[in-house]
Amino acid sequence: AILARADGPLDAVRVLMTAGPTREPVDPVRFLGNRSSGRMGYALAEALVGLGAEVALVTGPTALPAPPVAELVRVESALEMHAAVMSRASGCDLFIGAAAVADYRPVEPAGRKIKKDAGELSIRLVRNPDILAEVAALSPGPFTVGFAAETDRVIAYARGKLEKKGLDLIAANQVGGERGGFESQDNALTVLWDGGSRELPMMTKTRLARELAVLIAERYGERHA
Ligand code: CTP
Ligand code: CA
Repeated sequence: AILARADGPLDAVRVLMTAGPTREPVDPVRFLGNRSSGRMGYALAEALVGLGAEVALVTGPTALPAPPVAELVRVESALEMHAAVMSRASGCDLFIGAAAVADYRPVEPAGRKIKKDAGELSIRLVRNPDILAEVAALSPGPFTVGFAAETDRVIAYARGKLEKKGLDLIAANQVGGERGGFESQDNALTVLWDGGSRELPMMTKTRLARELAVLIAERYGERHA
């Protein structure tokens, strides 16, 4: 573990983060999930602690050891993650949405285990709240950082999200390809903000997280200079 530096660039900065996947209940024994391992978010949380930040991490279920954060909040569904974030958001300086939040959830989870039948099964889904967009819309709100996982048109879609959600910074990566992304140890990012961008090339998620943390600290410092 990295020890927090009292003279780090994020010394005493209160960071609230999400990481990992969410699980959307279908019935008491089943859920809809996604392929997020939580690795990038956990590595970023640890890197931010190393820069002096006081980190609260709201995490979906992962197989990873707990990072050395000040507060760790374990949740399952997007609605639980939303509640955990919104109750803490007004007290943070910097918010980072690294979770792969399910965009939809089953309208109403079945109270009992769904039994199979001969025909098809349909599950009606409703939209989940957009946690990142809601935090970004707070006023006064924290400096907000989002991630954008895209299979194609990575930069265009990421810039669209930066503008539409009113973020200060977005880290975009290509998923579903040969290297990098959700289940990989390695990843590459293109980081975008209003008027600038930086390429962080393919490297281990641990190294990438450290570089991203330094860049976030730089942009955050610029804002609070
Ligand atoms: N996010 C969030 N709450 C949601 C959906 C997304 O906080 N309900 C956050 C993610 O943590 C990420 C960013 O928004 O930081 C972008 O997520 P992404 O899935 O790439 O974008 P969406 O806006 O959901 O758009 P789409 O999935 O249609 O590409
Ligand atoms: Ca999404």
